[in-house]
Amino acid sequence: MNRIVTLDEFIIQRQKDFPFASGELTGLLRDIGVAAKIVNREVNKAGLVSILGVADGSNTSGDTVQKLDLYANEKLIDCLKNSGECCGIASEENEDFIPIPALADKTSKYVVVFDPLDGSSNIDVNVSVGTIFGIYRRKSDPSGPCTLEDFLQKGTELVAAGYVLYGTSTLLVYTTGRGVNGFTLDPSIGEFCLSHRDIQIPARGHYYSVNQGYYLKFDVEMRRYIDHCSDLNLRLRYIGSMVSDVHRILFQGGIFLYPNTRKYQHGKLRLVYECNPLSFVVEQAGGKSISCQLQRILDIQPETLHQRATIAIGSPEMVDEMKEFVEKYSPAALY
Ligand code: AHG
Ligand code: MN
Ligand code: MN
Repeated sequence: MNRIVTLDEFIIQRQKDFPFASGELTGLLRDIGVAAKIVNREVNKAGLVSILGVADGSNTSGDTVQKLDLYANEKLIDCLKNSGECCGIASEENEDFIPIPALADKTSKYVVVFDPLDGSSNIDVNVSVGTIFGIYRRKSDPSGPCTLEDFLQKGTELVAAGYVLYGTSTLLVYTTGRGVNGFTLDPSIGEFCLSHRDIQIPARGHYYSVNQGYYLKFDVEMRRYIDHCSDLNLRLRYIGSMVSDVHRILFQGGIFLYPNTRKYQHGKLRLVYECNPLSFVVEQAGGKSISCQLQRILDIQPETLHQRATIAIGSPEMVDEMKEFVEKYSPAALY
């Protein structure tokens, strides 16, 4: 039998890859692993909510029952705050970033961005959800509080990024820019165990993932590309949780699209919390990620924390093909 490698062990082993590492990043990744276990426990209980009672916002014992996305947000913030390993947090659930005061003998050089619960509309129906995170080195003076510029960095500046998928099993996948590794939570020992070493995305795949219900609201070049996917008899899969949809594509190959629609003229997904971290992971696994206007996602300069982006992410040959369709069929190319 292979020896089990836990997430903590693996992170510590990998610290040696960074000769001047102080252990802060290691600590941060471990904190995120702990928060993921706490959120996982709550996600697994979500189906019991109707038994325990939530109609008036409280359970039968009189405790207030929180919405799971807010609960996940609170737990991530608590874990990161208490450890003192980061100097600030920005979350999809908070309007502004949250500076974290330095602990007595510790100044931290990292900030963390996250989407605490992705695909939250799936919770009520027992379908997969996730957490997405990214870690940046701060730009501001370490002797003071963190500033907005620490969070508005391009994806190319990410030091680490990853996601947790609360699915049939719970999986944590992350990269520090040296490949992508996946860990499955073994509930019997409460540890994330290395289960997928050096993940590589297939060059092509049989899946495409897009909200086809918006087809008529997409630009003509995107409709052409979607028709092409259908002509190729690709299988359409759309869970409505970007983490879950991108996860399938990372492992089995394919393309995930969230183009601009009439309602979301700049796309729906958040550049800082969703697109950048997942793009870093997918690129590290050999994939590609571009906007539907053909800019590499990781090269986009964020102007605001909650900025949205369009995205086409997945197997490299399929993203290239989508690019060819845009180049060929966009109205700008036709006239
Ligand atoms: P969140 O639950 O964090 O708000 O994210 C939901 C996102 C994303 O995960 C998913 O791919 C997309 O919204 C689904 O949007 P549509 O329902 O518009 O397809
Ligand atoms: Mn989300
Ligand atoms: Mn969310």
